[in-house]
Amino acid sequence: EPSDEERLFDELIANEQRIEPRDWMPDAYRRTLVRQISQHAHSEIIGMQPEGNWITRAPSLKRKAILMAKVQDEAGHGLYLYSAAQTLGTTREEMMDQLLSGKAKYSSIFNYPTPTWADMGAIGWLVDGAAICNQVPLCRASYGPYGRAMVRICKEESFHQRQGFEILLTLMQGTDEQRAMAQDAVDRWYWPSLAMFGPPDDQSPNSAQSMQWKIKRFSNDELRQRFVSMLVPQAEILGVTLPDPELRYDEETGRYEMGEIDWDEFFEVLRGNGPCNAERIERRRTAHEEGAWVREAAAEYARKQRSTLVP
Ligand code: ACO
Repeated sequence: EPSDEERLFDELIANEQRIEPRDWMPDAYRRTLVRQISQHAHSEIIGMQPEGNWITRAPSLKRKAILMAKVQDEAGHGLYLYSAAQTLGTTREEMMDQLLSGKAKYSSIFNYPTPTWADMGAIGWLVDGAAICNQVPLCRASYGPYGRAMVRICKEESFHQRQGFEILLTLMQGTDEQRAMAQDAVDRWYWPSLAMFGPPDDQSPNSAQSMQWKIKRFSNDELRQRFVSMLVPQAEILGVTLPDPELRYDEETGRYEMGEIDWDEFFEVLRGNGPCNAERIERRRTAHEEGAWVREAAAEYARKQRSTLVP
């Protein structure tokens, strides 16, 4: 027999209404949200690094200003998401410990290197493009603070994607060398960006329950399909080739046939063995340690404010 609280929770979910921080919720729902939202926040913060790598070397002042603004947006996304996760009763410190100790995951995609300027284009076009496909449906997530945070994040992601597209378009209209650089970046980022959506549906342990709770609205494979169907016409405009010889539209099913994603590589990256995992975590740890004085100063300031308010 479900309790009154459980019945109310189920009713809210069934009626497309939102669960708010002070509402009763099953422990497993809370755990799933903390897991997903904190991993999402970590991805935004770690995701600042591959592009941060190019701020000092952007090819013009304008490109540099745009890239700085973009990386700063990602910091903002991380902060809204940590705040959303905190409403579920987990502290920022706990989440940070989990990231630095390797207990919490962050998106596989940010463990790949950015050796050329064209990578800034490919990340914007492919990685932020994948992020939008995945995140637009999350604006309707059943947990209020998460869904609301996603609205602004998606608007900014969509701007980021166009920014990346425009970098690639400019390179594709340039010299042979620039075109080759753009194609090379697309070749390196295409498959990892498809893997961002997570394992295939029959190997995705969390999907069924998350969809029942209306946190996720579409399955991993479904979103991957949407992403590819968005990319194909855009690749044509850019004049780049998507590096999958098996990619073709099946008129009968209305779906794209695609080659096999290298899932062994994906799981190796998740285990910490991707090309840049160690470097990313080390960099974050150093930044966290070097920022200790800022946290101390902010805490001390807050303490002083309280002591003047309460005589
Ligand atoms: N990178 C790292 N881990 C992943 C990835 C990925 N690309 N895809 C799936 N996983 C992990 C899951 O977190 C899960 O591990 P866990 O149970 O230890 O948390 C495991 O692989 C199995 O996957 P699923 O059962 O499919 O997990 P889930 O239902 O959580 O779906 C997904 C994964 C689609 C990433 C979901 O968590 C999600 O939509 N998250 C929010 C979006 C997000 O985090 N985006 C970050 C990158 S985009 C950006 O920041 C620019």
